[in-house]
Amino acid sequence: MEPVTLHINGARHRLFVAPHRTLLETLREDLGLTGTKHGCELGECGACTVLIDGTPVLSCLTLTVEVGDAEIETIEGIGSIARPHPLQQAFARFGAAQCGYCTPAMILTAKALLDRDPHPDRETIAEAIAGNMCRCTGYLPIVRAIAAAAEESG
Ligand code: FES
Ligand code: FES
Repeated sequence: MEPVTLHINGARHRLFVAPHRTLLETLREDLGLTGTKHGCELGECGACTVLIDGTPVLSCLTLTVEVGDAEIETIEGIGSIARPHPLQQAFARFGAAQCGYCTPAMILTAKALLDRDPHPDRETIAEAIAGNMCRCTGYLPIVRAIAAAAEESG
């Protein structure tokens, strides 16, 4: 086991982890942050996406011991029940979250996009979420929701 200090959603977590433990396992199983979803574990579905220093990263392919110095954001750090993030509000309004399994990763991927490009066109939005699979929506409501959140943020 190796010591590691993780910075997640503005809080520090000191823990001991096995060198082969993935960030996905640590988030869900050691820290109870189950908003990050466990999909294929092969880097193909995108459901496990978190932000590391503002960039979308697949937590199933990331070793926990490698990200000790980084700022990690998970869906638990984005908005709250009382004050949802504008992206979360737009996803609800446009029916962009149906079963919801892809939604945390979609929201985080969209947030990273809008943080670097506040007014993306629809093609850019579709490209940004291309690594995130959704089996329910057909993607159009997701693209519309992200575009609406971008418009509303001015
Ligand atoms: S669970 Fe990580 S890409 Fe599918
Ligand atoms: S809303 Fe069900 S997988 Fe996207």
